[in-house]
Amino acid sequence: MSASPRLVLTALFAAGCTTTAEDSAVDTCADAPLTWESWGAGFFTSYCRTCHSAASPERYGAPPALDYDTLAQVRAGAEAIRRRTVVDQTMPVGGGVPEAELARLDRFLECGL
Ligand code: HEC
Repeated sequence: MSASPRLVLTALFAAGCTTTAEDSAVDTCADAPLTWESWGAGFFTSYCRTCHSAASPERYGAPPALDYDTLAQVRAGAEAIRRRTVVDQTMPVGGGVPEAELARLDRFLECGL
């Protein structure tokens, strides 16, 4: 099996932290369909929408209208989201996303949009 860059990244995350057997076994789109409803909306609410939401009373400097309230907004921003959150890990400000969740975000951006 030839590994795509995404799978390699997922494997790196899985190797670098305390993931469960369940996490490391789930590495293809078919294995774990993460959807906006089942996972994405909750993730962006937990980690991003404090600042990146039209409803946020205090955006802490997040760019105007760079919001992740809807799947369409996440789709439109997928490339920047992956870069800043999964690759560079400069979002969210201050970090704090568990590695297993970053691996899920990577899969969601690949398979769930
Ligand atoms: C505490 C507030 C805060 C949280 C939480 C936060 N951000 Fe940000 N975000 C910012 C600020 C401030 C900027 C502008 C400064 C910068 O780019 O570093 C920004 C910029 C960005 C950019 C860059 C946009 C561009 O045009 O380059 C992306 C992408 C982004 N955030 C994604 C996310 C994602 C995805 C999450 C959740 C995983 C998240 N942010 C969580 C405050 C936040």
